[in-house]
Amino acid sequence: MSKVFEQLGTCPVIPVIVIENLEHAVPMAEALLEGGLEALEVTLRTPDALAAIESIARALPDAMVGAGTLIESAQFQQVVDAGARFGVSPCLTDSLATAAQACDLPWLPGAVTATEVQAARERGITDLKFFPAGTSGGPGQLKSLAAVYADVRFCPTGGVSADNLDSYLSIPAVVAVGGSWLTPADAVAAGDWGAVTRIAREACAAAVSSTS
Ligand code: 3PG
Repeated sequence: MSKVFEQLGTCPVIPVIVIENLEHAVPMAEALLEGGLEALEVTLRTPDALAAIESIARALPDAMVGAGTLIESAQFQQVVDAGARFGVSPCLTDSLATAAQACDLPWLPGAVTATEVQAARERGITDLKFFPAGTSGGPGQLKSLAAVYADVRFCPTGGVSADNLDSYLSIPAVVAVGGSWLTPADAVAAGDWGAVTRIAREACAAAVSSTS
């Protein structure tokens, strides 16, 4: 059910995308791919999110487009039908885990405490989103969890940015980071896709140097 991280490609950075305007979906995805990102998480927080996933999957078959903010069981089949190749949830519950398994969708549920990580492991899930990272103890909390759960891999999101991604990626258990800083609202509203590509390229360069 995990196996999200195997699909990430060479750049361990996942943009967390909120689509306010469906017309932005494909050019935004192109700009991010141009900047070296390979996996894109489109959050189900806006009415056009599913259509955006479908458009990106159709226009850019090489992009690894996934769906985020999966908080209802029924959403799992919907995003698979739209072309999502992975799913992300802010938490892990029995019903969400059952839905992810039923669709065979690689899934990254959220966990920030030892109890939550333990519950995931007991389900055989060892790839986790650490969310909301910044307000849940940040790199210090993550290091403490990783010391206990040596077989668990994390992707912190929530408060991650260009300014602090190295403090997460320098932790061996952190195999990727994610966030919305890669698609700033002003650049997106202005259709400044060159700026989005630049931010993505800088993030990839910083990420690769943090992990090498
Ligand atoms: C997420 O869903 O992962 C977060 O909302 C992203 O948080 P950020 O906006 O602080 O990057």
